[in-house]
Amino acid sequence: MSIRFHEEHKTFYLTGKESSYIFSLNEQGFLTHLHYGKRIAEADLRYLMQGIDFANSPSVEDCQPSLNAIPQEYALYGRGDYRSPSILIKTQSGSRLTEFRYQSYQIVKEKPAIKGMPSLRGGETLIVTLYDKINGLELDLYYTIYEEQSAVARRAVLKNKGTAPVSILKISSFSIDFARNDFDLISLPGEWAGEREIERQPLRRGIFEASSLRGHTSHQYNPFFALCDKSANEDLGECYGFNLAYSGSFTMKAESVSHGFTRVNGGINEVDFAWKLDVGEEFESPEAILVYSEKGLNKLSQNFHDLYREYFINPNFVFKKRPVLLNNWESTYFDFTEKTLCDLIEKAKDTGIDTFVLDDGWFGKRNDDWAGLGDWTVNTDKLKGGLKTVIEKCKECGMKFGLWFEPEMVNENSDLHRAHPDWHIASPDLESCRGRHQWTLDFANPEVVEYIKGVMSDCLEQNEISYVKWDMNRPMTEFYSKALPSDRQEETAHRYILGVYELAEYLTKKFPRVFFEGCAGGGGRFDPAMLYYFPQIWTSDNSDATARTYIQYGTSLCYPLSSMSGHVSICPNHQTGRVTPIQSRMDIASFCATGYELNLHALQKEDFDKISEHIRFYNGIHELILRGDLYRLRSPFEGNYFSQMVVSKDKKKALFVMMKMMAKANDCYPFIKLKGLDGNTEYEIAGMGTFRGDVLMNVGLRFPKNLLDFETRCFVLNAVEK
Ligand code: GLA
Repeated sequence: MSIRFHEEHKTFYLTGKESSYIFSLNEQGFLTHLHYGKRIAEADLRYLMQGIDFANSPSVEDCQPSLNAIPQEYALYGRGDYRSPSILIKTQSGSRLTEFRYQSYQIVKEKPAIKGMPSLRGGETLIVTLYDKINGLELDLYYTIYEEQSAVARRAVLKNKGTAPVSILKISSFSIDFARNDFDLISLPGEWAGEREIERQPLRRGIFEASSLRGHTSHQYNPFFALCDKSANEDLGECYGFNLAYSGSFTMKAESVSHGFTRVNGGINEVDFAWKLDVGEEFESPEAILVYSEKGLNKLSQNFHDLYREYFINPNFVFKKRPVLLNNWESTYFDFTEKTLCDLIEKAKDTGIDTFVLDDGWFGKRNDDWAGLGDWTVNTDKLKGGLKTVIEKCKECGMKFGLWFEPEMVNENSDLHRAHPDWHIASPDLESCRGRHQWTLDFANPEVVEYIKGVMSDCLEQNEISYVKWDMNRPMTEFYSKALPSDRQEETAHRYILGVYELAEYLTKKFPRVFFEGCAGGGGRFDPAMLYYFPQIWTSDNSDATARTYIQYGTSLCYPLSSMSGHVSICPNHQTGRVTPIQSRMDIASFCATGYELNLHALQKEDFDKISEHIRFYNGIHELILRGDLYRLRSPFEGNYFSQMVVSKDKKKALFVMMKMMAKANDCYPFIKLKGLDGNTEYEIAGMGTFRGDVLMNVGLRFPKNLLDFETRCFVLNAVEK
């Protein structure tokens, strides 16, 4: 790994494991992007800029090429570059022009954290300082790279060193111009109960945008997309992944318009965003993570997974065995008593389930979703002995106890709202929209965050709680905070998410042994910033095994298996009405942080009896889920089979799964070629025999042709010791 500035070439060389990121200063002091891709030796690449003519756009200095014709590192607005700008500032005079030119650089060994926002740890960081002498603004561009990773983390910090406040209208976390536009673009759109579907399309002229205006990252678009060679597949081709470590309204754009270039930029969504930066203040953007693979999409995913496991996800938990839990939501919904819960816990005894999680409905007057949010004291109508009785029951049955919260919300019918009618996000002119009959608390108001810190801390201090499920069930509307003056209203959405991070930081630090799982109506806030606090996230409210193959497959493009939680649920499935074999539900949930979410009493005896077997099996493979390399074998988006495997780093153990989607009369025998094994090693598969790695990878395994709808095969491969 190295970051070097070559004085003579005026070029920065950022060299990671398999990638190089190279840019230089041109004579005017603008940063010019030269290469991002396969690792190369340091070379003078400024020849790429020679012969660029004046182009059909105005230029900063007459007879010089226009900024529109030069690949930029961070793009100015209003100075001849007509593509998406990286930064837009409004000064008191009404001007929106800045001209940031190179000032200095420094290389730091210790990566500076972002104040109040999660970011990657470790690595070596280059900080390039640009200066806008018109307004006295300093802009620091951060680039972090890692010896063992092919990743560049980027962000920007703006400092007002001038004499008057300015308004930031847009500040990208990163921008990069590729001198080519022959890409395919792969994004992860979706919806509630159908998150992160893989969508691949040619990059066309115009702007592709993945974004959210919902105040959270959303089910509709994940803050991720990839550009890849048109011929790229899972195993071949250059691929570039982009991901934002931000949980609020975001935008990521890929723009292909001029001169065969592609510009990618992203950060906080500029719609309804403005930030007043007073003299002496600074503003830090969230971090963006750029990952490269020269060996297709599967390697791109592995690179993201390794990076996030090593440097992003809470290190206290990332490689620790996850709780195997029983959640009562799909079993009882709001309709439970102490007895219902204790019976459920009793039934789970000796199955191997180690944590019981009490979901929504335990607090306030929460008997349905019309009331109670905000009142985080126990509902003693339902739980006469408080949480204590349930916790005692868990202990008696050898289990730990977990609890659901939705800290960011309030119902109109709640004591909290009656005491503080101005604590939710609401405009002065309109009645607030309700979502699931609830309002969003104003986390832009520090008083609200302090209050929630207090009530949640009390609950966690007073009860033996080992796990918290942190939910968030509606997008924001009426972006207005009564705690902010009129000239800071466009700061509301960003301040809200800073408030969420503040609470998460406080609770995870104060209760370092409590395991936090994220959730937002299923997987509506699945991003690296959330994973920083919550090592796993409820991937989707859709617990149907077949639907989960799509959701988990799409999610795996960027996020590791251990970050997804997945539960075995009852059939017919509550979201899709589909009936799938219990074994299939277990097999698909095994490729996650696993658990159960069903009424155990409603299971047939033979299905119930399989639980212990499943958990024993899972306990034997959980290290693979935590640390292994994922290989996607068959995409459910592309055919009748879903298949993937995960292989230990030393290639001595692997876990395989496949599902047939629809049975077909007179079907052919499916062959699936395995990946990631050691070609010279013999692997034993219980019940099937012993096979050499090269046979498994090049000939493949043959499966029965008459598998039924949604039937799976799942097995472990163990290297035979010589
Ligand atoms: C959301 C979550 C579910 C459950 C309910 C409770 O929908 O995604 O898992 O916790 O809320 O209201």
